Order: sequence, then C-alpha cells, then structure tokens
Amino acid sequence: MRRCIVVGAGGRGGYWVHRVLAEMRNQVQVVGLVDIEPEPLQQGAQAHGLAPSQLFSDANQAFDALEADFCLIATPPWVHEQNVRAAVAHGLAILSEKPVADTLEASVRIKKMVESAGLPMTVVQNYRYSPYMLAFRDVLRSGELGRLSYLVARFAACYNPPRSWGKRFRHEMDHALLIEGSVHHFDMLRNLAGADCEEIFGYGWIPQWADFKGDCNGLYVMKMTDGSHASYEGSCTTEGYENSWHREYYRAECETGAVVVDADNVVKVYRIDNEEPTIVEQPTGAPEEGQAIVMEFLDYLATGEPSPTAIADNIKSIGMVFAAIECDRTGQPIKVREMLDDAEAGIEV
Ligand SMILES: NC(=O)c1ccc[n+]([C@@H]2O[C@H](COP(=O)([O-])OP(=O)(O)OC[C@H]3O[C@@H](n4cnc5c(N)ncnc54)[C@H](O)[C@@H]3O)[C@@H](O)[C@H]2O)c1
Repeated sequence: MRRCIVVGAGGRGGYWVHRVLAEMRNQVQVVGLVDIEPEPLQQGAQAHGLAPSQLFSDANQAFDALEADFCLIATPPWVHEQNVRAAVAHGLAILSEKPVADTLEASVRIKKMVESAGLPMTVVQNYRYSPYMLAFRDVLRSGELGRLSYLVARFAACYNPPRSWGKRFRHEMDHALLIEGSVHHFDMLRNLAGADCEEIFGYGWIPQWADFKGDCNGLYVMKMTDGSHASYEGSCTTEGYENSWHREYYRAECETGAVVVDADNVVKVYRIDNEEPTIVEQPTGAPEEGQAIVMEFLDYLATGEPSPTAIADNIKSIGMVFAAIECDRTGQPIKVREMLDDAEAGIEV
C-alpha cells in the first residue's frame, strides 16, 4: 500500500480524489489533502475518511506533518514548482499533472531538482491511455502500414463566450493554447511517432473576437528525429467543426496506408486498394486513463523503471511547447534539443 498526499484537490484534483484514487483504495491510501480552498478539502475528507488534522492549506506543512510515499500535484501550472520543491525537500516521489510548469526555466529547474534528489517524477499525459489512441498507436507500432511519413493533429474547441475553458486563468494567461492545451497533442505526436521533435516552426495568434489575452490559436509544423514530420492545428475559437477534448483528430500517413481517428473516436485504416476503410478494434477492459497512470507510477516506485512519461521523457513534450513559444517570439524555427540543453546548462536549481 502506498500513501499519497494530494496537493490541489479541487478542479482536476477532484477527478483524482473522487474518481481515480477512490477506486484504487486497495493500492493507494490518501493520507492527506492540500488546497487553499476549504470546499475541496471537506469533500475530499468525506470521500477518504480523513480527519481535520490531515487537511492543509500548504504543502510544506502537510509534508512536515504526515508520512507519505508520494504526492499527487494538481494545482495550476504556475504553482507546480513550489510544490515540487516542497516534495523534494521531504524526499517524496511526485506524480504531477501536466504541464511540467508554465515556463521553460521552471520546467528545467523541476527536472534538475528531482534528478539531483534521485526521486521519481511522472507527468500525467492521460490521452495516451484512451482505448482509441492505444489502438491507433498499435497500428503504427505493428509496422503493418510500413514506415511513417507524417502525422497530422487537430484540436479545435469553442471557448468563445458564453463558453469558457474551465477556470478563468486560461483566458488571462500568455500562450493558453500551447501551455494548457497543446502539450497534450505534442506529447501524443511523440507517442505516435515513437520519436522526438527535432525542430518546430509556426505561428500562434489571437483572433480579434477571442476572449483570450494570450495566443489561443496556432499552426505548427515539426521535423521529428526519425525523419518523419508532423503538423498541428490548435484552436480555442472554433465554431461548428470541433475536435475538442477526447475528440481530437489524428492522421498518420504511412508507406502503404493511413490511420485516422476523428471526433467519433473510431480508428480507421485506409489503403489505396480498399474501397472502404478497415475499422480498427480497440482494447476492451483497458484500465481507466488515470488508473493506468497511477498503476504505472506504482510500478515505477516498486521497480525503479521510469514510467513512459517520467520527467526525463516529458521534458521533451513540454520542450516542444516552449520551442513553439520561442518560434512565435523570434519568427525562426527552433531546435528543441538545443533549446533544452542551453536551458539546462544555464539554470541553477
Ligand atoms: N490531464 C488533464 O486532462 C487535465 C485536465 C484539466 C486540468 N489539468 C491540469 O491540472 C492542473 C490544475 O488545473 P485545474 O483546471 O484543476 O485548475 P483549478 O484552478 O480548477 O483547480 C486547482 C486547484 O488547486 C488549488 N490550489 C491553487 N493554488 C494552490 C496551492 N498553492 N496549494 C494548494 N492548492 C492550490 C485550487 O484551490 C483548486 O482547488 C493544471 O496543471 C492543469 O493543466 C489537466
């Protein structure tokens, strides 16, 4: 049994507390909750039978007072670093919501902090675990369509008024699409290609009618390290033709056919000689996304074998985000590895 302190128990933290960890009591015991708001603490305490002495408004105080094996961080992006720092100071392993952090510098500091402390840290990339994306990836990995030429990804949601993207912070922050959204899709492109992004180029912008202060739309192209390519369309202001969360569009163009998934989550393979596409079977009985991530993380703790989205890997997904931001700023294509190496060399923990 592993003991967990959840930091950030409302919003997305509520999903972890009430859905995922509530279903995993035989493997994980929630021993404490941290939130700056009382309501998520009270609701989480009820769900997990916690006493007031197990509820905190500050992570350091919780980590001082309670014995735990790991913390699960689900606070807003700009609060991740201070919570990771507290966890490292207390020798706790970390399972953290994406993105690693809201800046390149903070992301690199986090990576260096946990690595120099020798602590496991995994970043949540839940979209990798949906049955349709597992099926999509398996077609590519099986090699039945030959080599990959390129990938296309589309995320398009309507966050025009009166709809909004969760809490207001996403409408006020810089680079809302890239930092809060595209990190999922960039990570998926790496996951599908089985390769990293070498170079990225493109544009981000705010349509005149958008209810966003930072770039909420973007078009980017990428060169991958295996010689394949990728393109990405991201929009928070789409009206009518949506590929919103869990309904994203992906297409892989390969040597002898193409794999496609659209908003209906049906995975199809197209081949030149077949009039009709083949529908790809999806795994049944696969664990729910969050549970799959926790199970992998528990294996990481038990064996020392890092989860697929451990920090050393996930820095390459968030690196794509900051490279895209740098590309917006400079108008130049950005090499992701070089940017990360420069940042690591220049940043003190
Ligand atoms: N993987 C996914 O699909 C997914 C979905 C939504 C959000 N997220 C991520 O989850 C994180 C949280 O996003 P959200 O939408 O839940 O935000 P939110 O603002 O709705 O909820 C954040 C929670 O953290 C609490 N909090 C804020 N500062 C805190 C602090 N210093 N210490 C303790 N608690 C604090 C807030 O009171 C709130 O309960 C973000 O990193 C976001 O990117 C991931």
